[in-house]
Amino acid sequence: MRTPILAGNWKMNRTVGEATELVTGLLDVSKRASGVELVVGPPSTALSAVADALRGSSIGVAAQNMHWEASGAFTGEVSAEMLVDVGCKYVIIAHSERRQYFGETNETANKKLHAAFGGGLLPIYCVGETLDEREGDVMEDVVGTQVRDGLAGLTAEQAAQTVVAYEPVWAIGTGRTASRDQAQDAHAFIRGVLADLCGEGVAASVRIQYGGSANPGNIAELMSAPDIDGGLIGGASLKAESFAEMADIVQGVSAAA
Ligand code: 13P
Repeated sequence: MRTPILAGNWKMNRTVGEATELVTGLLDVSKRASGVELVVGPPSTALSAVADALRGSSIGVAAQNMHWEASGAFTGEVSAEMLVDVGCKYVIIAHSERRQYFGETNETANKKLHAAFGGGLLPIYCVGETLDEREGDVMEDVVGTQVRDGLAGLTAEQAAQTVVAYEPVWAIGTGRTASRDQAQDAHAFIRGVLADLCGEGVAASVRIQYGGSANPGNIAELMSAPDIDGGLIGGASLKAESFAEMADIVQGVSAAA
């Protein structure tokens, strides 16, 4: 069975002091959260302090981005090795905001996925369609290509360890969550693409998170769908109480399954 994974993507929010306070507020929930893997994704300036504050807890730390090269003249970038060095276990790759504002493509995502594994990080690979693409009936083309091109060339073992985050762009930060059925359909589709690409066994073990206006009020319903294995949470992960509440809910749903 797949252990659900609930990750907070803090985006460009929280100073070092605020970040440390936020994760300190999560230590209690991490002690009781046995059926769910918890991850926080602070901005890069706070990664080291957050990893220190979480040392000895079960909460993992994710960076929000990385470069695919190991080192060199790439001003403003950080490498997988540098992220491991400050205590990261995961790295979020190709979030739709990075695709939209910073020119990331499926090809750069693919390089980053390979570099993440090469450097000892586990990728959380983001895919998802825009509203125009959904309304134009090309969601499956877009998301299928994102999955195939992003994961191209990974070994079966690497593919199985990749976390895929399905984040419909129209649901991010809009308060307009995908319905349980919309999300389940997309997740089942992604699992089917993974099965074509890497085989049924790998597809069955990949965790697929939902992201987009998920919060304590809707996470239970989303998690009740068979192919939804957790969440990538933006706004509702910025307060310890709401993230902890979601962790408890996800744990409860997985314990009942
Ligand atoms: P919101 O939860 O704020 O909609 O953000 C989702 C997201 O982009 C997580 O990566």
